[in-house]
Amino acid sequence: MTAAIETHKLTKWYGQKSRGIIDVDLVVETGQIFGFLGPNGAGKSTTIRLLFDLIRPTSGSAQVLGLDIHHDRLAIDRRVSYVPGELSLYGDLTGRQLLTYLGNLQGSVDADYREKLIQRLDLDTRKRIKSLSRGNKQKVGLVAAFMIRPELLILDEPTAGLDPFIQLEFEHLCEEARSEGRTVFISSHQLPEVEHLCDRVGIIREGRLLAVESIAALKERALRRLEIDFGGPVKAEAFANLPGVRDLTVEGAVLKCTVMGSLDALVKAAARFEVRSLRSIDTSLEEIFLAYYGAGDGTSADAQAGKEASHAAA
Ligand SMILES: Nc1ncnc2c1ncn2[C@@H]1O[C@H](COP(=O)(O)OP(=O)(O)OP(=O)(O)O)[C@@H](O)[C@H]1O
Ligand SMILES: [Mg+2]
Repeated sequence: MTAAIETHKLTKWYGQKSRGIIDVDLVVETGQIFGFLGPNGAGKSTTIRLLFDLIRPTSGSAQVLGLDIHHDRLAIDRRVSYVPGELSLYGDLTGRQLLTYLGNLQGSVDADYREKLIQRLDLDTRKRIKSLSRGNKQKVGLVAAFMIRPELLILDEPTAGLDPFIQLEFEHLCEEARSEGRTVFISSHQLPEVEHLCDRVGIIREGRLLAVESIAALKERALRRLEIDFGGPVKAEAFANLPGVRDLTVEGAVLKCTVMGSLDALVKAAARFEVRSLRSIDTSLEEIFLAYYGAGDGTSADAQAGKEASHAAA
């Protein structure tokens, strides 16, 4: 199946010194909700603007729905919706006027569906765009994006500025799009905002794509902090060299450790003794993810891997 988005060594320099993105190879499969994550200035908006041919790459290439981003731009425009991070719309129009105008540009819009979207996102379409708050402007952009039922939605930080109720409704809209086999690409600074929504996430930092992971794979790498209270004192040696177990300490009848992946080996080792209580605290995906962000300061993914290796050796 053709990928929804595919980039090949996509690179953008703004002038000679200002790095946009470098050698980004990204594949977003059709029918997924994909999260594009990275800190400020990482290159998320640059990537998205390149995909829409709003700026031209310095080198590399990209296809959207199998079409070349430059040569097939008009065809892409008809099949893909884009909501930019900062919406600068026709401020003097009311929401309704703008939605009608954009609908006419697209050709045919299902008016019933448009009205449902307006209701679900609780949008007052009588107000002039320029008088709307940031979140309400964002809602106009989202209605405009969803109302044409595009094959691909590219949303640059869509949740910034939405209140929790509207955010939930927005997530339902994304899930509905996915259930119809359409693709949603969402940029965000924060994994917790999108982790329950996305199938896969890509991390971009300083212009380079660092990793693309399925949420399921990230969860497998999740760390758990565990504390076990035994009926009496136990020896640390009884828990030596268990797979996935690290930072193990035993003080009297209390064992503390961190476990990556399955708890099976540890639980079986513990079951040889009287277990009074067992507490488990899950490390958030955010923490696993942040390990990628902090390269060079001892918290990077490499440093993490090194830590694991030294544990394995110990
Ligand atoms: N028009 C421009 N001229 C020069 N440099 C630019 C321009 N637009 C972006 N950049 C640079 O490109 C890099 C990536 O910026 P980009 O806006 O793509 O980041 P982002 O990930 O979207 O960040 P944010 O989370 O803050 O929106 C930054 O270093 C930025 O300074
Ligand atoms: Mg941006």
